[in-house]
Amino acid sequence: MIEFKNAIREYTLGEEQWNLGPINLSIPHNASVCILGQSGSGKSTLLHLLGGIESLTKGSIFANTTDIAQLTEDQRNTFRRKNIGFVFQDFHLIKELTVYQNIELSLLINNKIQHYSEQKRDEKIQNILQEINLTDKKNNYPYQLSGGQQQRVAIARAIIHTPKILLADEPTGNLDSKTGEEIINLLFRVKNKNTGFWCVTHDQNIAKKFDITITVHDGAIKSVVKNQQALQNA
Ligand SMILES: Nc1ncnc2c1ncn2[C@@H]1O[C@H](COP(=O)(O)OP(=O)(O)OP(=O)(O)O)[C@@H](O)[C@H]1O
Ligand SMILES: [Mg+2]
Repeated sequence: MIEFKNAIREYTLGEEQWNLGPINLSIPHNASVCILGQSGSGKSTLLHLLGGIESLTKGSIFANTTDIAQLTEDQRNTFRRKNIGFVFQDFHLIKELTVYQNIELSLLINNKIQHYSEQKRDEKIQNILQEINLTDKKNNYPYQLSGGQQQRVAIARAIIHTPKILLADEPTGNLDSKTGEEIINLLFRVKNKNTGFWCVTHDQNIAKKFDITITVHDGAIKSVVKNQQALQNA
């Protein structure tokens, strides 16, 4: 289970204070979860807390038995590298590295945790290049790719170490609706069956594909709805 227990994140900007929470949520670890809400409502903050990118001010977030809030910064970094894959709206590829090298970097960063030989790394990268249908572009640089192609590389990089939770923050925000739908379908297809998938979107059509929809409003959870259609299709 993924459990938020009285989780609070406080931000102070000058005189202003903004809080996310207290959040209480209990979600099966392998569920697909879509997060909706207006700009500034706290969607990215929620993902960053679950992904160990930001720390909680108070409360707990349990990923199975690990309370992320109790980890030191070093432990949180290790937790994130091992368990989390992150896909951003604006791809965040390293522009000096080729497609192949961008994906390889993710495995190298993870190498302290999972030791792959060079041959095993190459095998995994070649396989994933096929899955994202970019084998022919493996030696190209990000600027030589379309937005959709760059996002496919970012997805490969996020899942190559088989994370337990895949987080995506408006992954289709910079893409046209057809490419966006292909990207969401790819995310569902390439992630491991047991990998939980949390995705921020503004698109109701995308939301329908997820098991659960969480709506955030001004730092609070407004609703948590199970999507019957998605559950029937499962
Ligand atoms: N580092 C920070 N310091 C201070 N305030 C912050 C910080 N990060 C976010 N906030 C504030 O927290 C609130 C929620 O931000 P967040 O990025 O989670 O919103 P969001 O729902 O993802 O919005 P959007 O749809 O525009 O991406 C906003 O009011 C924002 O100004
Ligand atoms: Mg955001």
